[in-house]
Amino acid sequence: MATNDQLKALVKSHADGDDPQFYAIAMQVAAKAARSGQSKFARDLRDLVDDLRKRTSASSRVAAVVPVTQPRGELSSLLTVSYPDARLGDLVLSDDLGARLRQVLLEQHQRDTLAHHGLRPARRLLLIGPPGTGKTSTARVLAGELGLPLFAIRLDTIITKFMGETAAKLRLIFDALVETRGVYLFDEVDALAGDRAAANDVGEIRRVLNSFLQFLEEDASESVIVAATNHPQLLDNALYRRFDTVMNFVLPDDASAQAVIKNRLAIFHISNLSWPRAVVAARGLSHAEIATAAENAAKRSVLAGRTRILTDDLVAALEERPRLTGQRDESV
Ligand SMILES: Nc1ncnc2c1ncn2[C@@H]1O[C@H](COP(=O)(O)OP(=O)(O)OP(=O)(O)O)[C@@H](O)[C@H]1O
Ligand SMILES: [Mg+2]
Repeated sequence: MATNDQLKALVKSHADGDDPQFYAIAMQVAAKAARSGQSKFARDLRDLVDDLRKRTSASSRVAAVVPVTQPRGELSSLLTVSYPDARLGDLVLSDDLGARLRQVLLEQHQRDTLAHHGLRPARRLLLIGPPGTGKTSTARVLAGELGLPLFAIRLDTIITKFMGETAAKLRLIFDALVETRGVYLFDEVDALAGDRAAANDVGEIRRVLNSFLQFLEEDASESVIVAATNHPQLLDNALYRRFDTVMNFVLPDDASAQAVIKNRLAIFHISNLSWPRAVVAARGLSHAEIATAAENAAKRSVLAGRTRILTDDLVAALEERPRLTGQRDESV
Protein backbone atom coordinates (compact mmCIF):
# COMPACT_ATOMS: atom_id res chain seq x y z
CA MET A 1 0.00 0.00 0.00
CA ALA A 2 0.97 3.63 -0.40
CA THR A 3 2.87 5.18 2.46
CA ASN A 4 1.62 8.35 4.07
CA ASP A 5 4.35 10.32 2.30
CA GLN A 6 3.31 8.89 -1.05
CA LEU A 7 -0.30 9.80 -0.42
CA LYS A 8 0.67 13.33 0.51
CA ALA A 9 2.85 13.60 -2.61
CA LEU A 10 -0.06 12.33 -4.73
CA VAL A 11 -2.42 14.94 -3.37
CA LYS A 12 0.19 17.67 -3.78
CA SER A 13 0.99 16.77 -7.39
CA HIS A 14 -2.72 16.65 -8.15
CA ALA A 15 -3.18 20.11 -6.65
CA ASP A 16 -0.20 21.42 -8.65
CA GLY A 17 -1.63 19.93 -11.84
CA ASP A 18 1.69 18.08 -12.18
CA ASP A 19 0.51 15.00 -14.11
CA PRO A 20 3.94 13.45 -14.75
CA GLN A 21 4.75 13.62 -11.03
CA PHE A 22 1.31 12.23 -10.13
CA TYR A 23 1.78 9.23 -12.43
CA ALA A 24 5.37 8.70 -11.29
CA ILE A 25 4.24 8.40 -7.68
CA ALA A 26 1.36 6.12 -8.64
CA MET A 27 3.89 3.88 -10.41
CA GLN A 28 6.07 3.85 -7.26
CA VAL A 29 3.05 2.69 -5.31
CA ALA A 30 2.43 -0.02 -7.92
CA ALA A 31 6.08 -1.13 -7.75
CA LYS A 32 5.96 -1.32 -3.96
CA ALA A 33 2.72 -3.31 -4.08
CA ALA A 34 4.31 -5.73 -6.57
CA ARG A 35 7.32 -6.14 -4.29
CA SER A 36 5.08 -7.00 -1.38
CA GLY A 37 3.22 -9.60 -3.39
CA GLN A 38 0.05 -7.67 -4.26
CA SER A 39 0.56 -8.43 -7.91
CA LYS A 40 -3.05 -8.00 -9.05
CA PHE A 41 -3.34 -4.60 -7.41
CA ALA A 42 0.07 -3.63 -8.85
CA ARG A 43 -0.94 -4.67 -12.36
CA ASP A 44 -4.30 -2.91 -12.16
CA LEU A 45 -2.68 0.28 -10.96
CA ARG A 46 -0.01 0.12 -13.67
CA ASP A 47 -2.65 -0.41 -16.39
CA LEU A 48 -4.71 2.46 -15.02
CA VAL A 49 -1.71 4.81 -15.10
CA ASP A 50 -0.77 3.69 -18.63
CA ASP A 51 -4.27 4.29 -19.81
CA LEU A 52 -4.52 7.73 -18.19
CA ARG A 53 -1.10 8.76 -19.50
CA LYS A 54 -2.22 7.93 -23.03
CA ARG A 55 -5.39 9.95 -22.61
CA THR A 56 -3.58 12.99 -21.19
CA SER A 57 -1.07 12.99 -24.00
CA ALA A 58 -3.92 12.84 -26.53
CA SER A 59 -5.70 15.80 -24.94
CA SER A 60 -2.55 17.89 -24.72
CA ARG A 61 -1.65 17.21 -28.33
CA VAL A 62 -3.30 20.41 -29.52
CA ALA A 63 -1.03 22.44 -27.29
CA ALA A 64 2.02 20.48 -28.36
CA VAL A 65 1.67 21.25 -32.07
CA VAL A 66 1.38 24.99 -31.52
CA PRO A 67 4.95 25.99 -32.20
CA VAL A 68 4.91 29.38 -30.48
CA THR A 69 3.82 27.86 -27.19
CA GLN A 70 7.38 26.69 -26.86
CA PRO A 71 9.45 29.72 -25.90
CA ARG A 72 11.08 29.74 -29.28
CA GLY A 73 13.60 32.51 -29.45
CA GLU A 74 12.30 36.03 -29.40
CA LEU A 75 8.63 35.30 -29.88
CA SER A 76 8.26 34.21 -26.28
CA SER A 77 9.02 37.71 -25.05
CA LEU A 78 6.54 39.29 -27.46
CA LEU A 79 3.34 37.38 -26.80
CA THR A 80 1.70 35.19 -24.22
CA VAL A 81 -0.49 32.26 -25.07
CA SER A 82 -3.57 30.92 -23.32
CA TYR A 83 -6.35 28.50 -24.14
CA PRO A 84 -9.52 30.16 -22.85
CA ASP A 85 -12.67 28.10 -22.53
CA ALA A 86 -14.81 31.26 -22.45
CA ARG A 87 -18.21 31.02 -24.13
CA LEU A 88 -20.51 33.52 -25.76
CA GLY A 89 -23.04 32.98 -22.97
CA ASP A 90 -20.53 34.31 -20.40
CA LEU A 91 -20.70 37.76 -21.96
CA VAL A 92 -23.40 40.35 -21.50
CA LEU A 93 -23.50 42.28 -24.76
CA SER A 94 -25.90 44.73 -26.35
CA ASP A 95 -28.07 43.17 -29.08
CA ASP A 96 -25.98 44.86 -31.73
CA LEU A 97 -22.61 43.68 -30.39
CA GLY A 98 -23.97 40.20 -29.71
CA ALA A 99 -25.22 39.93 -33.28
CA ARG A 100 -21.89 41.08 -34.71
CA LEU A 101 -19.91 38.67 -32.60
CA ARG A 102 -22.19 35.79 -33.61
CA GLN A 103 -21.75 36.79 -37.25
CA VAL A 104 -17.94 36.71 -36.93
CA LEU A 105 -18.15 33.29 -35.26
CA LEU A 106 -20.47 32.01 -37.97
CA GLU A 107 -18.18 33.20 -40.75
CA GLN A 108 -15.17 31.68 -39.00
CA HIS A 109 -16.96 28.37 -38.44
CA GLN A 110 -18.06 28.35 -42.08
CA ARG A 111 -14.81 29.55 -43.58
CA ASP A 112 -14.48 26.49 -45.83
CA THR A 113 -17.94 27.10 -47.29
CA LEU A 114 -17.09 30.76 -47.83
CA ALA A 115 -13.75 29.85 -49.42
CA HIS A 116 -15.60 27.64 -51.86
CA HIS A 117 -17.20 30.78 -53.25
CA GLY A 118 -14.07 32.86 -53.14
CA LEU A 119 -15.14 34.63 -49.93
CA ARG A 120 -13.16 35.19 -46.76
CA PRO A 121 -14.52 35.27 -43.21
CA ALA A 122 -14.36 38.45 -41.12
CA ARG A 123 -11.08 38.18 -39.26
CA ARG A 124 -9.93 41.64 -38.26
CA LEU A 125 -11.84 43.16 -35.37
CA LEU A 126 -11.31 46.52 -33.74
CA LEU A 127 -12.80 46.72 -30.24
CA ILE A 128 -13.30 50.17 -28.80
CA GLY A 129 -14.63 51.17 -25.42
CA PRO A 130 -14.03 52.09 -21.79
CA PRO A 131 -12.20 49.75 -19.40
CA GLY A 132 -14.06 46.72 -18.09
CA THR A 133 -16.73 46.53 -20.77
CA GLY A 134 -15.69 43.21 -22.29
CA LYS A 135 -13.03 43.81 -24.95
CA THR A 136 -10.49 41.32 -23.66
CA SER A 137 -13.35 39.00 -22.73
CA THR A 138 -14.56 39.11 -26.34
CA ALA A 139 -11.14 38.01 -27.57
CA ARG A 140 -11.27 35.17 -25.05
CA VAL A 141 -14.74 34.15 -26.21
CA LEU A 142 -13.60 34.15 -29.85
CA ALA A 143 -10.72 31.85 -28.93
CA GLY A 144 -12.93 29.67 -26.72
CA GLU A 145 -15.74 29.32 -29.24
CA LEU A 146 -13.37 28.69 -32.16
CA GLY A 147 -11.15 26.33 -30.17
CA LEU A 148 -8.10 28.44 -30.97
CA PRO A 149 -5.22 29.57 -28.80
CA LEU A 150 -5.29 33.21 -27.71
CA PHE A 151 -2.05 35.10 -28.23
CA ALA A 152 -1.90 38.39 -26.36
CA ILE A 153 0.46 41.07 -27.55
CA ARG A 154 1.08 44.15 -25.41
CA LEU A 155 2.06 46.73 -27.97
CA ASP A 156 2.94 49.37 -25.41
CA THR A 157 5.39 46.99 -23.73
CA ILE A 158 6.94 45.98 -27.02
CA ILE A 159 7.35 49.57 -28.11
CA THR A 160 8.91 50.66 -24.83
CA LYS A 161 11.13 47.62 -24.55
CA PHE A 162 12.29 47.38 -28.13
CA MET A 163 12.35 51.00 -29.24
CA GLY A 164 14.12 51.05 -32.58
CA GLU A 165 13.47 47.37 -33.28
CA THR A 166 9.72 47.41 -32.85
CA ALA A 167 8.94 46.98 -36.53
CA ALA A 168 11.20 43.92 -36.68
CA LYS A 169 9.37 42.48 -33.66
CA LEU A 170 6.02 43.10 -35.32
CA ARG A 171 7.26 41.19 -38.35
CA LEU A 172 7.97 38.18 -36.09
CA ILE A 173 4.45 38.37 -34.70
CA PHE A 174 2.83 38.58 -38.12
CA ASP A 175 4.95 35.60 -39.24
CA ALA A 176 3.53 33.69 -36.27
CA LEU A 177 0.00 34.56 -37.43
CA VAL A 178 0.65 32.64 -40.62
CA GLU A 179 2.36 29.75 -38.92
CA THR A 180 -0.12 29.19 -36.10
CA ARG A 181 -3.82 29.89 -36.54
CA GLY A 182 -5.07 31.63 -33.45
CA VAL A 183 -6.77 34.71 -32.07
CA TYR A 184 -4.12 37.44 -31.83
CA LEU A 185 -5.05 40.20 -29.43
CA PHE A 186 -3.20 43.48 -29.89
CA ASP A 187 -4.16 45.21 -26.68
CA GLU A 188 -3.77 48.97 -26.23
CA VAL A 189 -3.37 49.47 -29.94
CA ASP A 190 -3.46 53.22 -29.32
CA ALA A 191 0.15 52.83 -28.21
CA LEU A 192 0.81 53.16 -31.94
CA ALA A 193 -0.60 56.67 -31.91
CA GLY A 194 1.98 59.41 -32.19
CA ASP A 195 0.21 61.56 -29.59
CA ARG A 196 1.25 59.28 -26.81
CA ALA A 197 4.91 59.23 -27.69
CA ALA A 198 7.53 61.55 -26.26
CA ALA A 199 8.59 64.18 -28.78
CA ASN A 200 11.85 62.38 -29.63
CA ASP A 201 10.00 59.11 -30.29
CA VAL A 202 7.41 60.45 -32.70
CA GLY A 203 9.33 59.49 -35.83
CA GLU A 204 9.88 55.97 -34.55
CA ILE A 205 6.21 55.55 -33.56
CA ARG A 206 5.18 56.71 -37.02
CA ARG A 207 7.44 54.07 -38.57
CA VAL A 208 6.01 51.43 -36.28
CA LEU A 209 2.44 52.45 -37.13
CA ASN A 210 3.24 52.30 -40.84
CA SER A 211 4.76 48.84 -40.48
CA PHE A 212 1.75 47.70 -38.49
CA LEU A 213 -0.63 49.01 -41.17
CA GLN A 214 1.39 47.34 -43.86
CA PHE A 215 1.54 44.00 -42.02
CA LEU A 216 -2.21 44.18 -41.41
CA GLU A 217 -2.85 44.82 -45.06
CA GLU A 218 -0.54 42.08 -46.31
CA ASP A 219 -1.63 39.50 -43.79
CA ALA A 220 -3.36 36.66 -45.59
CA SER A 221 -3.27 34.23 -42.68
CA GLU A 222 -6.19 32.27 -41.28
CA SER A 223 -5.77 33.86 -37.88
CA VAL A 224 -8.20 36.24 -36.22
CA ILE A 225 -6.79 39.65 -35.37
CA VAL A 226 -8.37 41.55 -32.51
CA ALA A 227 -7.16 45.06 -31.68
CA ALA A 228 -8.48 46.80 -28.58
CA THR A 229 -8.33 50.34 -27.28
CA ASN A 230 -9.80 52.67 -24.68
CA HIS A 231 -8.66 55.68 -26.66
CA PRO A 232 -10.23 55.60 -30.12
CA GLN A 233 -9.67 59.34 -30.55
CA LEU A 234 -5.94 58.60 -30.76
CA LEU A 235 -6.29 56.13 -33.59
CA ASP A 236 -5.24 56.95 -37.08
CA ASN A 237 -8.02 56.81 -39.67
CA ALA A 238 -5.83 54.57 -41.78
CA LEU A 239 -6.01 52.03 -38.97
CA TYR A 240 -9.83 51.90 -38.94
CA ARG A 241 -9.91 51.03 -42.61
CA ARG A 242 -7.89 47.87 -42.06
CA PHE A 243 -10.59 46.22 -39.93
CA ASP A 244 -13.60 44.21 -41.14
CA THR A 245 -15.58 44.95 -38.00
CA VAL A 246 -15.43 47.83 -35.56
CA MET A 247 -17.21 47.04 -32.30
CA ASN A 248 -18.07 49.89 -29.94
CA PHE A 249 -18.36 48.76 -26.34
CA VAL A 250 -20.30 50.99 -23.96
CA LEU A 251 -21.22 50.95 -20.29
CA PRO A 252 -24.10 48.57 -19.60
CA ASP A 253 -27.70 49.74 -19.61
CA ASP A 254 -30.02 48.69 -16.75
CA ALA A 255 -30.95 45.36 -18.32
CA SER A 256 -27.29 44.50 -18.94
CA ALA A 257 -26.33 45.54 -15.42
CA GLN A 258 -29.01 43.22 -14.07
CA ALA A 259 -27.74 40.40 -16.29
CA VAL A 260 -24.14 40.86 -15.06
CA ILE A 261 -25.32 40.74 -11.44
CA LYS A 262 -27.48 37.67 -12.09
CA ASN A 263 -24.57 35.86 -13.79
CA ARG A 264 -22.19 36.62 -10.98
CA LEU A 265 -24.66 35.66 -8.24
CA ALA A 266 -26.00 32.59 -10.02
CA ILE A 267 -25.33 30.26 -7.11
CA PHE A 268 -26.90 32.52 -4.46
CA HIS A 269 -30.47 33.27 -3.46
CA ILE A 270 -31.39 36.52 -5.11
CA SER A 271 -35.15 36.17 -5.57
CA ASN A 272 -35.76 38.83 -2.92
CA LEU A 273 -33.47 41.45 -4.51
CA SER A 274 -34.99 44.80 -5.40
CA TRP A 275 -33.82 45.19 -9.01
CA PRO A 276 -34.93 48.81 -9.38
CA ARG A 277 -32.66 49.80 -6.47
CA ALA A 278 -29.78 47.62 -7.65
CA VAL A 279 -29.73 48.87 -11.24
CA VAL A 280 -29.90 52.50 -10.13
CA ALA A 281 -26.86 51.90 -7.92
CA ALA A 282 -25.08 50.25 -10.86
CA ARG A 283 -25.51 53.18 -13.25
CA GLY A 284 -22.23 54.57 -14.51
CA LEU A 285 -20.29 51.42 -13.62
CA SER A 286 -18.61 49.15 -16.13
CA HIS A 287 -19.51 45.47 -16.45
CA ALA A 288 -16.28 44.63 -14.63
CA GLU A 289 -17.04 46.96 -11.71
CA ILE A 290 -20.59 45.61 -11.39
CA ALA A 291 -19.28 42.05 -11.39
CA THR A 292 -16.76 42.91 -8.69
CA ALA A 293 -19.43 44.64 -6.58
CA ALA A 294 -21.73 41.62 -6.89
CA GLU A 295 -18.91 39.40 -5.75
CA ASN A 296 -18.12 41.68 -2.81
CA ALA A 297 -21.78 41.62 -1.75
CA ALA A 298 -21.72 37.82 -1.98
CA LYS A 299 -18.60 37.64 0.19
CA ARG A 300 -20.18 39.89 2.78
CA SER A 301 -23.27 37.67 2.87
CA VAL A 302 -21.29 34.43 3.10
CA LEU A 303 -19.14 35.75 5.92
CA ALA A 304 -22.29 36.83 7.75
CA GLY A 305 -23.52 33.25 7.41
CA ARG A 306 -26.15 33.88 4.73
CA THR A 307 -26.61 32.59 1.18
CA ARG A 308 -29.33 35.15 0.53
CA ILE A 309 -27.97 38.40 -0.85
CA LEU A 310 -29.54 41.50 0.66
CA THR A 311 -30.37 44.47 -1.53
CA ASP A 312 -28.69 46.77 1.00
CA ASP A 313 -25.42 44.81 0.76
CA LEU A 314 -25.51 44.82 -3.02
CA VAL A 315 -26.35 48.52 -3.26
CA ALA A 316 -23.60 49.38 -0.76
CA ALA A 317 -21.07 47.29 -2.73
CA LEU A 318 -22.11 48.94 -6.01
CA GLU A 319 -21.88 52.41 -4.52
CA GLU A 320 -18.33 51.72 -3.35
CA ARG A 321 -17.05 51.06 -6.87
CA PRO A 322 -15.32 53.78 -8.85
CA ARG A 323 -17.39 55.35 -11.60
CA LEU A 324 -15.96 56.52 -14.88
CA THR A 325 -16.70 60.16 -15.22
CA GLY A 326 -17.79 60.79 -18.79
CA GLN A 327 -16.37 58.02 -20.90
CA ARG A 328 -12.78 57.81 -19.81
CA ASP A 329 -9.94 59.15 -17.80
CA GLU A 330 -8.48 61.96 -19.88
CA SER A 331 -5.32 62.21 -17.83
CA VAL A 332 -3.53 59.49 -19.79
N1 LIG B 1 -19.68 42.53 -21.34
C1 LIG B 1 -19.39 41.82 -20.24
N2 LIG B 1 -20.17 40.81 -19.84
C2 LIG B 1 -19.88 40.11 -18.74
N3 LIG B 1 -18.79 40.33 -17.96
C3 LIG B 1 -17.97 41.32 -18.30
C4 LIG B 1 -18.22 42.12 -19.47
N4 LIG B 1 -17.25 43.03 -19.57
C5 LIG B 1 -16.42 42.83 -18.54
N5 LIG B 1 -16.83 41.80 -17.76
C6 LIG B 1 -16.17 41.31 -16.54
O1 LIG B 1 -15.08 42.17 -16.25
C7 LIG B 1 -13.82 41.53 -16.39
C8 LIG B 1 -12.86 42.43 -17.14
O2 LIG B 1 -13.35 42.68 -18.44
P1 LIG B 1 -12.43 42.81 -19.73
O3 LIG B 1 -11.04 42.44 -19.38
O4 LIG B 1 -13.07 42.08 -20.84
O5 LIG B 1 -12.51 44.38 -19.96
P2 LIG B 1 -11.82 45.24 -21.09
O6 LIG B 1 -12.90 45.90 -21.87
O7 LIG B 1 -10.83 44.45 -21.83
O8 LIG B 1 -11.11 46.35 -20.20
P3 LIG B 1 -9.70 47.12 -20.42
O9 LIG B 1 -9.99 48.23 -21.39
O10 LIG B 1 -9.40 47.65 -19.05
O11 LIG B 1 -8.72 46.14 -20.93
C9 LIG B 1 -14.13 40.24 -17.15
O12 LIG B 1 -13.28 39.20 -16.75
C10 LIG B 1 -15.57 39.95 -16.76
O13 LIG B 1 -15.61 39.30 -15.51
MG1 LIG C 1 -8.75 44.50 -21.88
